Amino acid sequence: MERVIFATGNEGKMREIRSILADTYPEVLSMKEAGIRAEAAEDGKTYEENALIKARAVAAAGADGIVMADDSGLEVDFLNREPGIYSARYMGEDTSYRIKNANLIGRLEGVPEEKRTARFVCAIAAVLPDGRELAVRAAIEGRIGYEEKGEGGFGYDPIFYVPELGKTTAELTEEEKNLVSHRGKALRLMKEELKKL
Ligand code: IMP
Repeated sequence: MERVIFATGNEGKMREIRSILADTYPEVLSMKEAGIRAEAAEDGKTYEENALIKARAVAAAGADGIVMADDSGLEVDFLNREPGIYSARYMGEDTSYRIKNANLIGRLEGVPEEKRTARFVCAIAAVLPDGRELAVRAAIEGRIGYEEKGEGGFGYDPIFYVPELGKTTAELTEEEKNLVSHRGKALRLMKEELKKL
C-alpha cells in the first residue's frame, strides 16, 4: 500500500487526517515526518487550485508516495462569500480569531437569522507518484451566530452554528466534528476517488 504524505504542519489536522484515512492508508506522514521542506505561494483563485499548488510543491520536493494537501475557508453569504479563500489571511494572518470572529459578527449586526447562512468549504488535492492529479471539494452548511460559543475546534468554529445539531462546531468533540465537517467529508471523498483508479 502506498504511503501518504500530507502537506501540512498542523498536528490537529494530521490527527484528523490519520483517523479518516487509516482503514485504507495506514501510513500517513506529515511533511516534517517525511523530512520535506517546501514553500508555495497560495495564489490560486479557488480552493482546489491552492490545494494543488501545495501538493505539487511537496511532490516536487521529492516526496515518496501519494502527496495530499488541503485548502479551506469560511464563506458568509451576506458578505458575498467573504472571507472565502482568504479566511486565514482575513484581517491579517496574526490577528486573533477572537477579533476576526467579533468583526464578522459586527458586520452581520441586524441581519436576520435566515440571511446569516454560511459554509465551511474544503478542497483536498492529491498528486500520485506517476504524476496524476485529483481534487475534490466538500462543504458543511451553517449560520453565523450572535456570539462565540464552545471551546473546541479552532478558527471560526465558535461562530459557526449548525442548525441540525443545535451547536456550533466548537461545541462538538473532535470525533463529532470529523463526521460532519467539510474536511472530513472531502477526505472521505478523496479516499473513494483514489479507490476508483
Ligand atoms: P487552511 O486551509 O489551513 O489555509 O485554512 C484556512 C482558514 O479557514 C483557517 O485558517 C480558518 O480560518 C478557516 N477554517 C478552515 N477550516 C476551518 C474549521 O474547521 N473551523 C474553523 N475555521 C476553519
